[in-house]
Amino acid sequence: TLSGDAFPLTPNPHPATDTERAALMTDPVFGKVFTDHMARATWSGGSWGDRGVVPLEPIPMHPGAAVLHYSQQVFEGLKAYRHADGSIHLFRPTMNAERMIDSAYRLAMPPLPVDDFLAACAALVQADQRWVPEADGAALYLRPYLMATETSLLVQPSDTYDLVVTASPVGAYMGGGGGVSIWVSRGYHRANDGGTGEAKTGGNYAASMLPQQQAKENGCGQVLFLDAKEDRYVEELGGMNLMVVLGDGSVATPRLSGTILPGITRDSVMTLLADAGRPVRERDIEIDEIREGVASGAIVELFAVGTAAVVTPIGELRSDDFALTVGDGKAGPVGSWVKKELTDIQYGRTADDHGWLIRV
Ligand code: COI
Repeated sequence: TLSGDAFPLTPNPHPATDTERAALMTDPVFGKVFTDHMARATWSGGSWGDRGVVPLEPIPMHPGAAVLHYSQQVFEGLKAYRHADGSIHLFRPTMNAERMIDSAYRLAMPPLPVDDFLAACAALVQADQRWVPEADGAALYLRPYLMATETSLLVQPSDTYDLVVTASPVGAYMGGGGGVSIWVSRGYHRANDGGTGEAKTGGNYAASMLPQQQAKENGCGQVLFLDAKEDRYVEELGGMNLMVVLGDGSVATPRLSGTILPGITRDSVMTLLADAGRPVRERDIEIDEIREGVASGAIVELFAVGTAAVVTPIGELRSDDFALTVGDGKAGPVGSWVKKELTDIQYGRTADDHGWLIRV
């Protein structure tokens, strides 16, 4: 069991009533509902201090705070799951802690020690455990982030930072059982070599918004980015990794080229498929291979994977010059199988052979 002792609780004097909370937790829009508390710590004078769980409230900031100008910021996303016996578990939180250290390095920010990351998450979940949903497919989504707080317009690393962790009860990020439509972005890219593509930083998501808007205008729920150098290889979606199932039963996913987020769900799905005798090949995948493969039937299934998205089938692939239905446009067998396998572990319905869950 994870201890949150390093983040002592200052209780919210006005927590949501049970009636208010129940209403807020009924079918919440992703990331629109927040619990009673947040975890916090501050970096100044070269070390982390001021750790605690405090009432959720606005964060006062000087208008010159560095994060507001040059986006020196990194974040994470992970979920707490309630099991049938009422216990609450985080899924692979150490991987999030380690990835946030890697992201912080790229943004020239101080690393938050793994133990602090874990304790902040544990303390917040313990304080707000009544907000962890019971419904299947629902969970408490934790959003840890680091941001530069120094008042300075100089383009240089801040000398002070805040860690904040918020918690939101969530259902599925995207639609129900049907497949999502994907818009292949032409001309706009998410990341380039040596950039911040493999860091989880807000700027990457800011860059995805115009193409994401274009996807919406074209009736698609998500955008798929191609590599910036050649506009030829598929990279990732606006907030999830891509899996490709070929007709011979093999599975492929874009390799971690440095411009792709190393997803924890990506890694978990790859592990589960490998366990089942279906090793996932990490390689360069051309958009033309996907286009031709979907058209000819050589590619039978596409799905997106991520913490928020879990496993989301892709039903359709579109761009300026083509529109293709993937398989029968619905969830395929491989994605459906791995989704069940993964969520059975997360919700405690099957043995956690990999030791991925940590109880809080
Ligand atoms: C997550 O899956 O946790 C993310 O951070 C992606 C975002 C689009 C919600």
